[in-house]
Amino acid sequence: MQALSLIQSRFVVILLSIIVVLQLFWIFDNQYAIAPHWASSSAPTPTASSWTFDTTRDAHNHALTYDQCTTAFPKLYYEIERSVAYWKTRNHQINENDVNISWTGKGGIRALIYENELRIVQTQDTHHFQDHHDARRVIFVLSQIHRALLGATAVGEKVPTIEFSIAVNDHANLPSEEEDTHAVWTFDRKIGSKKDERMWLMPDFNFWAWNPVGNAFNDARRRAMSHDATVEGKIQKIVWRGNRKINPELRKSLIATGSGKDWADVDGDWLDIDDFCRYLFGVYTEGHSWSGRLKYLLNCDTIAIVHELQFTTSYAHLLVASGPNQNHISVKRDWSDLEEKVKYYLERPEESRNIIQNSIETFRERYTTPAAEACYWRHMFRAYREVAFEPDAFTSKAIDSFGQTETVRHLRGTPYELFIGTDGRLTS
Ligand SMILES: *[C@@H]1O[C@H](CO)[C@@H](O)[C@H](O)[C@H]1NC(C)=O
Repeated sequence: MQALSLIQSRFVVILLSIIVVLQLFWIFDNQYAIAPHWASSSAPTPTASSWTFDTTRDAHNHALTYDQCTTAFPKLYYEIERSVAYWKTRNHQINENDVNISWTGKGGIRALIYENELRIVQTQDTHHFQDHHDARRVIFVLSQIHRALLGATAVGEKVPTIEFSIAVNDHANLPSEEEDTHAVWTFDRKIGSKKDERMWLMPDFNFWAWNPVGNAFNDARRRAMSHDATVEGKIQKIVWRGNRKINPELRKSLIATGSGKDWADVDGDWLDIDDFCRYLFGVYTEGHSWSGRLKYLLNCDTIAIVHELQFTTSYAHLLVASGPNQNHISVKRDWSDLEEKVKYYLERPEESRNIIQNSIETFRERYTTPAAEACYWRHMFRAYREVAFEPDAFTSKAIDSFGQTETVRHLRGTPYELFIGTDGRLTS
């Protein structure tokens, strides 16, 4: 009897132990079931076919894979494809002489990508574009390239070795001879200009940051979103601020058209760019050439009013002026139809809402995200190599080694990491 009860009690102890252990497993299991925020990043990567771009999750991801970039941004690469087609049609492979930057006079950079790293080979009077308080475009552009390369490396993508030239001027003045073959990466090209067809359009420097705005681009996006409101909750006017001495033909005539009108708030005073988002309509004006402002307007839930353009950029082809996908209001360059169009939409909030919705989906949530910017660069590196030479990343250099002169193979250029700390001076 006693022996039996001993066996029984042992059995109970073992049974209880098993239950305790099982419960522990259940608790741990449950902890993962209510996974902490950080655990989601270790979730298995979905296969390419099932993956879709989720702007809340992916907008700031500089390291999408090549396939994810294609899935997320099918209409992003219009200008890159145009450039490739141009050089193919011309049947000319971009060579070493074509990336010589002496023609730029100022604002030229010659650079190299080697093993997913950026190296600056030569600069041509970039002083103004580096030191001037609102023109640190050299650093802003190179930083974008650097970040895109980090993204590529993070997903195991090998960027081809390429050598290219950049002009950070408002509008680069390529040599105009028809047989000239200089190729250059620029912020904009003049629509209809034959020589500008040789340009490769890159994302504007202020996709990184913009000194007058006093913000990194992503902070500017957050600030824009802080003004989100209903159509009725917006100030029922167009807004414009800026320097009227730049492109006065266009800007002064806008002020003349809008001044004293109850549907317009146009002036030469300062207004923070995110305060433009308080209005129902934000007006874009070209400056010396293109203006970087448009992407900031397109990150508001405001209707962008865009005049007929003389300069195009890496993303301007995504502007749709009519139909169900209309995402802005297009007006004449002399503003003659501005009043009529503004009044039309002021009376039709439903149509205004539709334009805003399209604009948000196209630009803020997709094509002007940092993720899209990184994808654009990486696509450009590859596409450029399709029609350009493979550079020799090395050069021979004589060095003094323990009193003897020795010739070594030496990587060309100053690495980006060092360049940003040398006030733009090259070290080799
Ligand atoms: C660039 O071209 C100029 C003018 O033709 C020439 O003097 C210069 O040596 C070239 N520079 C390089 C690095 O090839």
